Amino acid sequence: MEIAELEERFAVPGVLGFETTSSGLVFVQVTAPAASATVYLHGAHLTDWQPAGESPVLFLSARTELVPGKPIRGGVPVIFPWFGGKADDKAAPAHGIARVLPWGVEDVRVTGGTVALTLSLHPSDATQKWWPHEFEARFTVTVGSSLEMSLQIRNTSPAAFAFEEALHTYFTVSDVRNVRVDGLSGTDYLDKVDGFKRKQQEGPVTISGETDRVYIDTTATCVLDDPGLRRRIFVEKVNSASTVVWNPWIAKAKAMADFGEEAWPGMICIETCNVGENRVNLPAGQTHQMKAILRSEG
Ligand code: BG6
Repeated sequence: MEIAELEERFAVPGVLGFETTSSGLVFVQVTAPAASATVYLHGAHLTDWQPAGESPVLFLSARTELVPGKPIRGGVPVIFPWFGGKADDKAAPAHGIARVLPWGVEDVRVTGGTVALTLSLHPSDATQKWWPHEFEARFTVTVGSSLEMSLQIRNTSPAAFAFEEALHTYFTVSDVRNVRVDGLSGTDYLDKVDGFKRKQQEGPVTISGETDRVYIDTTATCVLDDPGLRRRIFVEKVNSASTVVWNPWIAKAKAMADFGEEAWPGMICIETCNVGENRVNLPAGQTHQMKAILRSEG
């Protein structure tokens, strides 16, 4: 759909509008009474969420390239249908294909003080090339006093399929060395920086080096406590059994051209997922919905 048609069908003056980057990516600007948000159709990628009167909650790399075909670094990449490398195909792109494909606008709903935007992705040559299943994916962002993200996958194939998914949320922090994440104590995790060893979290998660952990069998709300910014961010989940916590630290950040050497202290990812042994097995005709609900308390 061209931008003029999107405007005509979905724009709500003063509340929701469409714009285009110089590289041709279309994004949606949402202004609700309680918060503003920006969502790119490229990857159904939320890049900004800012509760009224607060600073931005999400980290977006100053070096990210906003171009077709490449992932955006920061915000909330939608990861589907596999997480990390594809187990049976080393040539497949990392973290699935949903984050690098253009999604369509399906619906806009304004109810009281909230604005809900639904984007959808359907099978195409690009999805079939790497993942030969029929599906419907819908991503709904509801902007209000909290931010709700819902990823809905419907299996429209004649047979069951399995998939992994993540709402790979990058948070802005004052200094990652001074924040803590509560909600994971007592949970087992796979330590990706220590050969995927299975370990158990004791107490809050704090960051003092490269951190890449897949917490399994956890449905708990995580609380990101940032004394430097004097705020706590609550990450509540629905139908999500894994949580990933990631900070690349110095060397990994340096190796990522779209990250910037200096940016790593200012971010942490707390990802609402179903990955690895928590992957979803979805029978034909069924729908699975996973949600992350973010709330900021000053
Ligand atoms: C995290 C993974 O979810 O994403 C890390 O656990 C990975 O291993 C990180 O490095 C970033 O991935 P990408 O593909 O966006 O560079």
